[in-house]
Amino acid sequence: MTPVIYPTGVSQPVAFNSSEVPGYDSFEPTRNSRRARRPLPPGPKKLPLFGNIFQLPTTFEWETYAKWGEELKSDIIHLDAAGTSIVIVNSHKAATELFDKRSAIYSSRIHSTMLHELAGWNTLFGFMPYGERWKEHRRLFQKHFHPSNTLVHQPFELEYTRKALKKLLVSPEKFMDHLRFLAGASTLAITYGIEIKDEDDPYLAVAEKALVGLAASAAPGMFLVDSIPILKYVPAWMPGAGFQIKASSWRAAATDMVNIPFAATQKAVVRGADTTVASMNTFMLAMTCFPEIQKKAQAELDRVLVAGQLPTFEDESSLPYLSALVKEIIRWRAITPLAVPHQVTQDDEYNGYFIPKGSIVAGNVWAMLHDENEYPESLAFNPERFLKNGSLDPEVRDPTVAFGFGRRICPGKHIAISMLWITVASILSVYEITPEEDETGNPVSPSQEYIPSMILHPAPFKCKIKPRSREAERLIISLDSVAR
Ligand code: HEM
Repeated sequence: MTPVIYPTGVSQPVAFNSSEVPGYDSFEPTRNSRRARRPLPPGPKKLPLFGNIFQLPTTFEWETYAKWGEELKSDIIHLDAAGTSIVIVNSHKAATELFDKRSAIYSSRIHSTMLHELAGWNTLFGFMPYGERWKEHRRLFQKHFHPSNTLVHQPFELEYTRKALKKLLVSPEKFMDHLRFLAGASTLAITYGIEIKDEDDPYLAVAEKALVGLAASAAPGMFLVDSIPILKYVPAWMPGAGFQIKASSWRAAATDMVNIPFAATQKAVVRGADTTVASMNTFMLAMTCFPEIQKKAQAELDRVLVAGQLPTFEDESSLPYLSALVKEIIRWRAITPLAVPHQVTQDDEYNGYFIPKGSIVAGNVWAMLHDENEYPESLAFNPERFLKNGSLDPEVRDPTVAFGFGRRICPGKHIAISMLWITVASILSVYEITPEEDETGNPVSPSQEYIPSMILHPAPFKCKIKPRSREAERLIISLDSVAR
C-alpha cells in the first residue's frame, strides 16, 4: 500500500473526536474511513476532549502500559492523548503481525513539533516519515554498514576498547566517562573516520549536547507543544515557555552537528552511541551487583584465552556464556523500552479492533522482554536463561525487539552487539568489578535505579575496578597501539 505523505513531506497524526465517549462508536478518523462500527482496542476510560491525557504516566510508562494490557486482557491497547490516537503493542505476537507482516503501512514516523521543528532533528533519517527520502538514506546506510562487512567497524571497536582499558587503569572511578568515550569515539571513528583522543574532544562535546536534547524532546507526549503545535510560536520569555529555551539550545547543538560537513548517513549514527553507552553501563551495574555471574564469565574467558592475551572477535564462537551475558544485558533493562514509535499510514484492523490511520503505534519492548512465558523470573539477571547444556539455546527467543521492529529495525544492531561484546569480553578478561565498601568494610550494592527517558541509563553509581592480577595489569600497561 502507498504510504500517505502530506505535501510538507510529513505524515500527520490524526486528530479524532473523543468527545463521544463511552464506546467511541462514532469515532471518525478520516473522511473515507471504513470503520463500520468496529471498536478501538481497549484502553483506560477516556474523558471528553482530553481523552487519557490526565492518566498518561510520565515516567516508566511502559510498565503501566503492560499492566493495563494485562488488566484489559488485550495485547494491544488504545490511548487518546487529547486528540492523538496511540496504540501500544504489548506482545511479540501482535508486534510480528503489525510491524512485520503489515510493514507497508506500519513503518512511518510521527511528526513531533518539539523534535523536528524546534530541536532541529529533521535531517536524521531515523525520524523521517516513511517514503522515498527515508528509503534512500536507509539503503545507503545498510549498503555501507552491511553485517557481512565487519571490517568497517570491528577494527575501530577493538582499538577504542583497548584505549578504554588503559583509561580504566588510570582513573577507574570515572568509568562512566570512559565508556561514553569508548562508544562515542569508536562510533565517530567508524562513521566519520576521525580520531578522538580523549573525553574533551569538541566533536564528542557537540554530539553529547545534541543527544541530551534528543532524548528529552523525543519522548511522545513529553511536551505539550507536540499536542498543540501552535504553541511553538509562543516567545521563549513567556511564563511556561521553557520548552522554547531548551529547544533553542538543543537546536544549536543539532545544527552544529549538521553543519560539520559529513555525509547525512553517517550523522545518523551518533544517536546510536547513546544507546550503546546505556548498555555498557548496564553491564557495569550487573557485574557490580551479581559477582557470581562475573566469576562464571571470567572462568570461561580463562579457559578459552591464551594466557597473557586479550580477547579478539575470533574468540566469540568459543565463549557461549559471554554471548548469553550480552543477550541478558540487552534484555534485562530494555534500555529503549518503547523503541522509537512508528506511525500507521492506513486504517487497519487487528483482532477485530479498529486502528485508525495516523495513530502512533509503539511496540512495548519492555513488556515483551519481561514476558514471563518467554523469560521466566524476567526481572532477575540470569544469562543462563539463554543456554542449554553449555551452548546457546535456539529455543529461547533472542531479545532482538530491543532493536525495534519491522522495516525500521535498528540498522546498526550488528555494530551495537559487536561493540558491546568486545567491551564485555575485554573488561572481564583483565578487571574485577566489585561494589564500593562502607566505613566498616561492608559492600554497598548500587540501587539499580534507572533514569526515565527515551533511552534508559542507570542512575550514576559507584564501583571498584581493579586489575585481576599483576599479569593483567602488565598486559594493560603494555597496550600501546593496536594495529588496524
Ligand atoms: C545497544 C545499542 C542500540 C540499541 C538498543 C538501538 C535501538 C534502536 C531502536 C529501538 C531503534 C528504532 C527501531 C524502530 O523504529 O522500530 C533504532 C533505530 C536506529 N538505530 Fe539503533 N540501537 C543501538 C545502536 C545503534 C548503533 C550502534 C547504530 C549505528 C551504527 C544505530 C543506528 C540506528 C539508526 C540509523 C536507526 C534509525 C532506523 C530507521 O528509522 O530507519 N543504532 N535503534
